Amino acid sequence: MGEMLESASVPLFIVFILLFILLLVVLIIRKNGTAALIWNEIIREKITNFIMNQSKEQRILNFVLQNAVRGDPCSVVDAIDKYCSQKEWAMNVGDEKGKILDKTVEEANPSVALELGTYCGYSAVRISRLLKAGARLLTVEFNPEFAAVAKQMIEFAGVQDKVKLLEGPSEEIIPQLKKKYEVDTLDFVFLDHWKDRYTPDTKLLQECNLLRKGSILLADNVIFPGAPDFLNYVRKSPHFQCTNYPSHLEYMQVEDAMEKAVFLG
Ligand SMILES: C[S@@+](CC[C@H](N)C(=O)[O-])C[C@H]1O[C@@H](n2cnc3c(N)ncnc32)[C@H](O)[C@@H]1O
Repeated sequence: MGEMLESASVPLFIVFILLFILLLVVLIIRKNGTAALIWNEIIREKITNFIMNQSKEQRILNFVLQNAVRGDPCSVVDAIDKYCSQKEWAMNVGDEKGKILDKTVEEANPSVALELGTYCGYSAVRISRLLKAGARLLTVEFNPEFAAVAKQMIEFAGVQDKVKLLEGPSEEIIPQLKKKYEVDTLDFVFLDHWKDRYTPDTKLLQECNLLRKGSILLADNVIFPGAPDFLNYVRKSPHFQCTNYPSHLEYMQVEDAMEKAVFLG
């Protein structure tokens, strides 16, 4: 009898060790941004894409089409947040930082707004639902698959008359804004594309005379993944007045922040 208990306790011991390791991995993924990105964006996403023969962005869109209300942008934003917090993580600005975005858009009350980095259209829908009559948002995306999903998202939300999706790299589109897209100056700019483009694109906006006194720039992810060059540039520049808004990485407990930089002329 004693021998039987002894032999049963060995596999039980191993099960406990494995459960402990699993718990540890889950905790690390929840708290550590890099581990979370590696797990969500590389391992888990690739496996799910392979099994379902479909991209994560397509799955997000399908969830919205089945669960949100056509023509109701708030229901689209809520459905994306629900899917990405409960099913699959994705790089939308998310609801926590989304509230900072909402407040900044309301403060800027823009006639012309620019977004760099559309992805699935979450923040484009979020921003456009707050725009006054006649105002417009230009949103830039260089990945054609993301742009195709975003286009459908924007149309489903019913904000297609306020949002123009410009497909291409920001560094090519920004110099075309004045002539090709009839922009005089931008009232609000949301920087949410790859972080190494924040500083060169801010400088490009200045060089192209697209900023006026009072134009508001809002940059996401300045802590995680981080944009130290950008923070250094705007905080040291006499042309910007900065405010930092501590927050968390979308759908995670990882520390992040948004930086507002008001152009002083
Ligand atoms: C963090 S996601 C944007 C999320 C989106 N703003 C939201 O909150 O719903 C970044 C996006 O920027 C795009 N991107 C990165 N660098 C870019 C560039 N230089 N020009 C245009 N798009 C870019 C990527 O393809 C990606 O879709």
